[in-house]
Amino acid sequence: MKENTASSTAYTVLQGLVYIAKCTPHSYLVPDEMRRLGECVLSASEEGRARLSALEKPTIRLKTGIREFIFLPGITLHYILRKRCIEEKTREAIAAGVTQVISLGAGFDSLAFRLSCEFPEVNFIEIDHPDTQKFKADAFDHAAEAQSGLANLKYLDVDFTHQNIEDRLRRFDPFDRSRPTLFISEGVTMYLTEDEVIHMFASIRNLSGAGTRFVFTAVEPRESPRNNTRLALFLYLKLIGEPIKWSMEGPLLPAFLEKQGCKLDAIDATDDFKKRYMAPGRHPRLHYGEYVAVAHFE
Ligand SMILES: C[S@@+](CC[C@H](N)C(=O)[O-])C[C@H]1O[C@@H](n2cnc3c(N)ncnc32)[C@H](O)[C@@H]1O
Repeated sequence: MKENTASSTAYTVLQGLVYIAKCTPHSYLVPDEMRRLGECVLSASEEGRARLSALEKPTIRLKTGIREFIFLPGITLHYILRKRCIEEKTREAIAAGVTQVISLGAGFDSLAFRLSCEFPEVNFIEIDHPDTQKFKADAFDHAAEAQSGLANLKYLDVDFTHQNIEDRLRRFDPFDRSRPTLFISEGVTMYLTEDEVIHMFASIRNLSGAGTRFVFTAVEPRESPRNNTRLALFLYLKLIGEPIKWSMEGPLLPAFLEKQGCKLDAIDATDDFKKRYMAPGRHPRLHYGEYVAVAHFE
């Protein structure tokens, strides 16, 4: 990430959700509260306001179509599909007894905020780079004024590249080692080096131990037959200071996880998302190349 600026890709994901909700026939995929909170976070910064006003322009659909054609067909719809999947996995984990949810690299996602209102007995912690997190915490404080949320949602800033997640979380009072815990990492591992990803797994294992669940997204390598990302995207991400550093072929994931003391429970990818969340009928082109993995520590 570029120093002293919030993650550009975190803005892109959030703008994408609001775009799907306001400008496309797939608005049914975005719950009203997710859209409202998205607009609230975008309104809290200059960059976010510029992105909101871009959505009002009559050319927005054309521009989005061209950008996707050049870089990554279907990516805007993919953001909401992967969020729907992660929310479903999180709800399943809470129903199965998890009482602590920790989101690593939470960006401008609203899942922890929304669920913290719905599950007051569950402890939620959002961890993110300080440059991204400072915008969000303020924006959600405003949103919380009208709701009972936030008492059980805490923010911790950590730069995964320069700081040790394990040390930071161990010293963070709201973190409770004794609670059955789910860690989430959505749209983050690809921006970390392999060593940083391995450190993330080791930190979770050391902090929370056996039985801890981990739901994370990972991208397929560019040359994988399961990836429709174009070369132009890799060059663009490098240019904006968020290059892709780690990828993992789905079929190789179980062996990688085994080395981290983890077992794979499920991999859900685009065809699963389509079946579960999209209304039947003709679909636009979807993005292939990023999957949601569900694992637990042994
Ligand atoms: C694409 S955004 C995803 C945000 C969110 N999880 C979502 O999917 O909506 C990537 C996130 O990773 C975080 N991130 C990237 N590199 C990081 C680092 N070195 N340390 C901490 N966070 C980092 C960014 O701040 C950003 O919030």
